[in-house]
Amino acid sequence: MSSGTAAGSDDSDLAENAKKADDRSIDEGSATDAADDVLVVEGLTKRFGGLTAVDDLSFSVAEGEIMGFIGPNGAGKSTTFNCITGRFPPTKGSVRYRGEDVTGVPAHEMVKRGLARTFQSFRPLGDRSVLANVALALVPDRLFSIAGLRGQGTTRERASEICRRVGLGDRLSQTPDELPHAGLLRLELGRALATDPDLLLVDEPFAGLSGPEVESVAGLLEELREEGLTLVVVDHNMRGLLSLIDRAVVIQFGAKIAEGTPEAIRSDETVQQAYLGGEV
Ligand SMILES: Nc1ncnc2c1ncn2[C@@H]1O[C@H](COP(=O)(O)OP(=O)(O)OP(=O)(O)O)[C@@H](O)[C@H]1O
Ligand SMILES: [Mg+2]
Repeated sequence: MSSGTAAGSDDSDLAENAKKADDRSIDEGSATDAADDVLVVEGLTKRFGGLTAVDDLSFSVAEGEIMGFIGPNGAGKSTTFNCITGRFPPTKGSVRYRGEDVTGVPAHEMVKRGLARTFQSFRPLGDRSVLANVALALVPDRLFSIAGLRGQGTTRERASEICRRVGLGDRLSQTPDELPHAGLLRLELGRALATDPDLLLVDEPFAGLSGPEVESVAGLLEELREEGLTLVVVDHNMRGLLSLIDRAVVIQFGAKIAEGTPEAIRSDETVQQAYLGGEV
């Protein structure tokens, strides 16, 4: 019984807990990254000509969390991913990954460092099988934290294990055009997992999925987190995200308008206004 435990604590325990709480608040308030922050984005700005797609955006992602990254159409979600993953250099601001400044580091280098993403528009190799698509994405010499992959020998074995993990175990020899929409998303996830990421950015995984498919993909993302991955998941709204995410950052016109638990976001007035009464 927790109250009994608290009542039974002696003064030194209480003092120690208070000190830990103090240390935490100092960490959170300091300019340096908290020890468990995998990703720290500060003042990120991306302009395309006269259009500011991302506007002085700051947020951080803690190790092992699933963060929701939410915003209406054209809010700048994919552009933020593109700047973090090295696809576009930001106009201003910085990106820190695992304590290192990686602002403007190119995409292939970010993959080597353990950062992976899925694309909103799937981009499999159309003339290759599901298995080959995953095998070709494998990065040599990574250790693999995903259960069942560590220490496994051949490329084929690793790739088929990844296919199995994402629910494509019975479709190895099919080509992408034989897959339903949900299967293509799973393949996109499989190709990202083949790079053995620590942090996975997932761009709108639930778009076009039925209710049961949303639940199934959310379950898969949750399993991946349990196996040690940190995730940032984009969606237009809370659909599919509410039970999955620990925390959300909401943006509009490239700027952050809210941050907090899913419940806090749902009842946030600015967020409700951004969605003009529609579903948050
Ligand atoms: N390469 C580019 N060149 C010019 N403008 C761009 C480019 N990429 C994005 N934009 C513009 O930047 C803004 C943000 O786009 P972005 O794709 O990041 O939004 P999003 O939040 O991902 O939207 P969606 O929910 O529709 O995917 C939009 O106005 C878009 O037209
Ligand atoms: Mg997008």
